[in-house]
Amino acid sequence: MDLESIRSEVKRRNQEHLFTFWDELNAEQQAQLLEDIARIDLDTLERLIPTHVKSSPATAVGSVPEPADAWPARPKPSQETKYAEALALGQKLIAEGKVATMVVAGGQGTRLGFDRPKGEFAISPVMNKPLFRLFAEAVLATGERYGRPTPWYVMTGPTTDQPTREYFAKQDYFGLPPEDVFFFCQGVMPAVDHAGRILLDQKHRVALSPNGHGGCLLALSTSGALDDMRRRGIEVVSYFQVDNPLASPVDPLFMGLHALTEAQMSAIAVPKADDLERVGNFARVDGRLCVIEYTYLPDELAHARNPDGSRRFDDGSIAVHAFSRTFLESLTCGEGSIALPWHRAVKKVPFVDIGSARRIVPEQPNAVKLELFVFDALPVADRAMLLRQDRGECFSPVKNAEGVDSPATARRDMSRRAANWLESCGVNVPRASDGEPDGVFEISPRLALDADQLKGRLTELPTIRAGDRLYLG
Ligand code: UTP
Repeated sequence: MDLESIRSEVKRRNQEHLFTFWDELNAEQQAQLLEDIARIDLDTLERLIPTHVKSSPATAVGSVPEPADAWPARPKPSQETKYAEALALGQKLIAEGKVATMVVAGGQGTRLGFDRPKGEFAISPVMNKPLFRLFAEAVLATGERYGRPTPWYVMTGPTTDQPTREYFAKQDYFGLPPEDVFFFCQGVMPAVDHAGRILLDQKHRVALSPNGHGGCLLALSTSGALDDMRRRGIEVVSYFQVDNPLASPVDPLFMGLHALTEAQMSAIAVPKADDLERVGNFARVDGRLCVIEYTYLPDELAHARNPDGSRRFDDGSIAVHAFSRTFLESLTCGEGSIALPWHRAVKKVPFVDIGSARRIVPEQPNAVKLELFVFDALPVADRAMLLRQDRGECFSPVKNAEGVDSPATARRDMSRRAANWLESCGVNVPRASDGEPDGVFEISPRLALDADQLKGRLTELPTIRAGDRLYLG
């Protein structure tokens, strides 16, 4: 489109203020502004302004939610054969190259306050390995274990895309074949004020932010990642988020149960830390498995108890999923593809005030951001599977700089898990009076992806003294 058409299109949408400073901009800045505007889905934005900006969409959960049915972390005796079958099937699918893994790393990581992509954050308790390295080693080790490389799809965001690609290149892809790592960048949405006017971050830059982890669904299709998966014969896609160092990029039991139950989409649940923990809650609504965000779960349900005193809604989401590739295609490709619901968040977003031309850093939330959530695809699936796992085995997110869900708690939990694995192999791990391991422990994914593998790999049991820092690699 030429400049005049873009301007009149923007004007037609009542967003002509975006061109207020046009005449002050140099040619490069003008090009940048046009590029930003071109990235905006103006149709979708216009549709959402009355429902999601000027008012809030209904957040009440439709019918009364029921707790979700789930496969237990440890099978009951009657389920042991099924679990063994699922594990064998998962291993077979991985060995046949039918499983891919996907990490979403397009978020802004504002709470952590780290100025590089979150995946570069050094997290492991002894060696300080960054998140990307840990996951890359796990993907590499999976390939070695099953004799076939697992392709890895890495979703970046507009600000993390270039740095992430450069980082992987600088690290020689951590030893992975570069042709098995596929980067794709998610879409954006502009922040708008409460009247629905798009905010300028600078005179020549729109205040754009990534469109939520649910943006991965469309981006998989538009980037060609789904085509690549089809070409490779991928049947199951494992999904995890970059901020959980305990996440397993490819869990054979989970992949196998997903396939054995012929699920289209699956999820992992862990017991919640407390009634109001800021995680999604699995529930069954109108017979469909879904995730109710903590902000949407009514308090009386969050505090509800079973007759034995246990929490009624205790299945917290750790944002680990499995998708059948054909389900991803039905969600994102062509006629009849499903539009996920948009969510609004009111946030503080710096902006250029049109009247005074000054950039303002607000002290109060001033803008609406619009996002898609990946778990909204769950109720779309006719067949969905939920597997419970031990929290200490698979979940310790890095969200905040300090306190809960911080680097300190993630390092503690990585060290705790390593200590548990060592003990399960018969190693004597000293413990302090509060029961915590006395020392700091780290096991490289290259050595073992789980406690069982560690058993086979430990030719000699290490002797550990209180306070030791032990790395097994
Ligand atoms: P969060 O919702 O915790 O957001 O993302 P964040 O961007 O990491 O951190 P804050 O909220 O700004 O502090 C959970 C996961 O989803 C990914 C993130 O990279 C993280 O792995 N994500 C989030 C995306 O890939 N894209 C998004 O638009 C949002």
